Amino acid sequence: MVICFHSCDSVAFPTSSLQHERSLSRRRRWRWLTSAPHLPSGRQPTRGFQIKNSNGHPLNAASLQDGLAENLSAEESVEKRSKDGSKQNGSTVSITVVGASGDLAKKKIFPALFALFYEDCLPKHFTVFGYARSKLTDEELRNMISKTLTCRIDKRENCNDKMEQFLQRCFYQSGQYGSEENFVELDQKLREKEAGKLPNRLFYLSIPPNIFVDAVRCASHHASSPTGWTRVIVEKPFGRDSESSAELTRFLKQYLTEDQIFRIDHYLGKELVENLSVLRFSNLVFEPLWSRKYIRNVQLIFSEDFGTEGRGGYFDNYGIIRDIMQNHLLQILALFAMETPVSLDAEDIRNEKVKVLRSMRTLKLDDVVVGQYKGHTKGGKSYPAYTDDPTVPKCSLTPTFAAAALFIDNARWDDVPFLMKAGKALHTRRAEIRVQFRHVPGNLYKRNFGTDLDKATNELVIRVQPDEAIYLKINNKIPGLSMRLDRSNLNLLYSARYPREIPDAYERLLLDAIEGERRLFIRSDELDAAWALFTPVLKELEYKKIAPELYPYGSRGPVGAHYLAAKYNVRWGDLSSESS
Ligand code: BG6
Repeated sequence: MVICFHSCDSVAFPTSSLQHERSLSRRRRWRWLTSAPHLPSGRQPTRGFQIKNSNGHPLNAASLQDGLAENLSAEESVEKRSKDGSKQNGSTVSITVVGASGDLAKKKIFPALFALFYEDCLPKHFTVFGYARSKLTDEELRNMISKTLTCRIDKRENCNDKMEQFLQRCFYQSGQYGSEENFVELDQKLREKEAGKLPNRLFYLSIPPNIFVDAVRCASHHASSPTGWTRVIVEKPFGRDSESSAELTRFLKQYLTEDQIFRIDHYLGKELVENLSVLRFSNLVFEPLWSRKYIRNVQLIFSEDFGTEGRGGYFDNYGIIRDIMQNHLLQILALFAMETPVSLDAEDIRNEKVKVLRSMRTLKLDDVVVGQYKGHTKGGKSYPAYTDDPTVPKCSLTPTFAAAALFIDNARWDDVPFLMKAGKALHTRRAEIRVQFRHVPGNLYKRNFGTDLDKATNELVIRVQPDEAIYLKINNKIPGLSMRLDRSNLNLLYSARYPREIPDAYERLLLDAIEGERRLFIRSDELDAAWALFTPVLKELEYKKIAPELYPYGSRGPVGAHYLAAKYNVRWGDLSSESS
């Protein structure tokens, strides 16, 4: 049996040097062990080794579940991990959430930190600081965040105790985002908590982009770690186009090295996105099919069944192409289409992703359809139009829906359409990757399929959310005396196969940032290539004031998306009668 071992609590870094981090990343690499494993000293494979995320994440969670992990009681596991943790008495990690009173911080960042603490994945010594403009005491911060912490993790016991322990490690510093003085105060508080330990500091910038640079300047001048590492997680938007993104990068690099910047795209932390490479590179049945020879088209679909409620102010300046396509969907595309990386090291993977992005044809206006939702009444209930949002100008042309046809001009993917579709206020919430395969040449059964041969091709669906699943549509004989075929699914439904709850993407990404693992973060050249692809069309849309096609709130989106797909002989898989 192939087994992956990984410790969950390896957070003790003496320096922030690149060299050190590379060696760390090498240590965290997958270990495929068929006999006695050779682990670095102090990392002997015992039953206490923990399932781990990202690069330390077990490829074969099933074998772990079937084997070692199931034999280990929760107590044994925790005990083992805390023993390992006690080796790390010498260092501490301070995590400062800048913009602590914002929605993202409350809904995602603090809960993810708590979940990591609950799972014993945070280092033994850590503190969490909230930093924001509001005047709050430590106690008020704790009250605020306690409302969004949940004991969701398998509903284990002692959750309230754990929550209390976590909250006792949370502190607050109020301050302006561009105030050197306030960051000096933050630094003093951090030093008090870090006393006697090697200090490592992680800043999570959960603030609007126009104040990124000020906050980074103040943090780097006055609150970076004097002797340990300092890392900064930044949330999109990373600019609005190539120029503004390059400018932002230039500013950030005045204060930080590329190495210290962790550009987050939370879709890369989603379980099924993380699984993409596993599916392809570790299963013989997939990798040989992964090219223009067998794949007719690939569809990347994102839809939400709610509008921009409450976020119109932000959204109107960006639109769906910048909000979803240029980052989340494009990152998935790059992972999907890349060549086999030399290794699972961050730089090897990001090198391959950037090659895909740089091989892509610049998107043309003809290959884009934009839409915007309008008000709709259904079952006596009224749903607002996008422009009903008081923070959105009445005459806004900002797209809340877009479909696009993209192409990768390389030997593997020449002429294969990669269709993207993203929209808000649609009939359903889902994110999925659909891979439609070519027709079976000389198919013996083609008479049984009727005239529409496209309907008989195989389709692989990777449903990122909700109800995570991977399923393959195949043709099958309906049992009975006649030769009748139907389409069935070979179905891997995660909730049926894996009873444990799937960690939130932010948990994985925060843990990676703490551990210095960059694989799931965007490098600046990836960002440049992503903007180069979309900037011309974004400018043209704005310059020509292209009016979006209106679609009713809760509908399937503009019909233009069908025409665009039809232009490339594609049918959207999510809209076919048998989509599931
Ligand atoms: C964010 C976008 O990046 O992703 C939001 O800004 C969107 O508009 C969100 O709603 C979707 O994330 P998830 O994880 O809920 O699918």
